[in-house]
Amino acid sequence: HLVVDNHVDEQTFQDCVEKAARILRAEELVAFPTETVYGLGANGLSTRAVQKIFKAKGRPNDNPLILHIGSMAQLYPLIRGSLSFHAEKLIEHFWPGPLTLIFPASARVPSVVTGGLETVAVRMPAHRLAREIISKAGLPIAAPSANRSGKPSPTRVEHVKEDLDGRVAAIMDGGSTGYGLESTVVDVSGGEDSPRILRPGGITEEEMEETLGLSMSVERRDGTRGNVRAPGMKYRHYSPDTNVELVDGSYVVMQARIGEAKMEGKRVAAAITSDRVDKISADEILVLGDETDLQAISSHLYDHLRAVDKMDVDVLFVQTFTETGIGKAIMNRLYKAANR
Ligand code: TXA
Ligand code: MG
Repeated sequence: HLVVDNHVDEQTFQDCVEKAARILRAEELVAFPTETVYGLGANGLSTRAVQKIFKAKGRPNDNPLILHIGSMAQLYPLIRGSLSFHAEKLIEHFWPGPLTLIFPASARVPSVVTGGLETVAVRMPAHRLAREIISKAGLPIAAPSANRSGKPSPTRVEHVKEDLDGRVAAIMDGGSTGYGLESTVVDVSGGEDSPRILRPGGITEEEMEETLGLSMSVERRDGTRGNVRAPGMKYRHYSPDTNVELVDGSYVVMQARIGEAKMEGKRVAAAITSDRVDKISADEILVLGDETDLQAISSHLYDHLRAVDKMDVDVLFVQTFTETGIGKAIMNRLYKAANR
């Protein structure tokens, strides 16, 4: 596969971008880094190309995909009607970046992308390699996370290779992604209605409410209110094979739970922040990072969830975080990992 890290010279970088764009135009799959997680890209206007994504990932067909664009000019052909006031503000402030917006879809968007919905998800990524590939291809690129369905999303090229090597035409190596959790998904398809958060992510509710000057509604965790708005929510997601249990409270509670599990003869891993390292003993310790740096914790979370499956443990206890700011996205993914 193609290797593009941050250290290659400009000519090599451009050659790789050109190759990736050519593969995409030929309706084959390319995995590439974004600022959130690695994506598995295909020509988003081609049913044939997009079907290959579902096949490579083992993804259910009714789970719709995000179209990635490199410029605003690429947005208008994909959506129906004009931009709402809220959509315009969110775009102004947060694109390019880890924010996906749901719009009414134009007739040009294939139903294999929307999962048969009337709406389409669009995002303009901020990662340079992603932007250049999309622009060079001159196509909206459909891209879910580049993992096998049900695995944690890939934040390092090793994760992509683990899941998809031999199943895709090219894997672009861009090193570690930044945010480490998938984009925030916000539904702005309701015109001037208040936008709804369907999936928390790197752009926080607080930041968006500040920008919009209003309070936003948030989809319930189980996604069961009324009809299913974000179809992805109904699938088991982000789950390691190891049994994950979330533990609220102080290190004392965590150590007690570990003690009980040990009494039952289990091998135990604990995922904790650095301040607890001296206070907790378990068979395996995963250090999530500094408790005051939620950004760093989110950027390494999936790497830890993947690592635990390679340890021979029966259970992983994970400490919980306050659900404000990026803590909301972290807890959303942890709930899913724990199947709660
Ligand atoms: O950060 C990200 O968003 C990454 C990178 C690669 O861009 N992509 C990603 O894609 O996480 P995926 O397919 O793993 O998640 C897309 C989410 C799913 O929960 C899906 O159900 C939801 O967006 N979605 C897509 N189209 C939708 C629509 N029309 N209405 C509601 N939800 C939609
Ligand atoms: Mg995914």
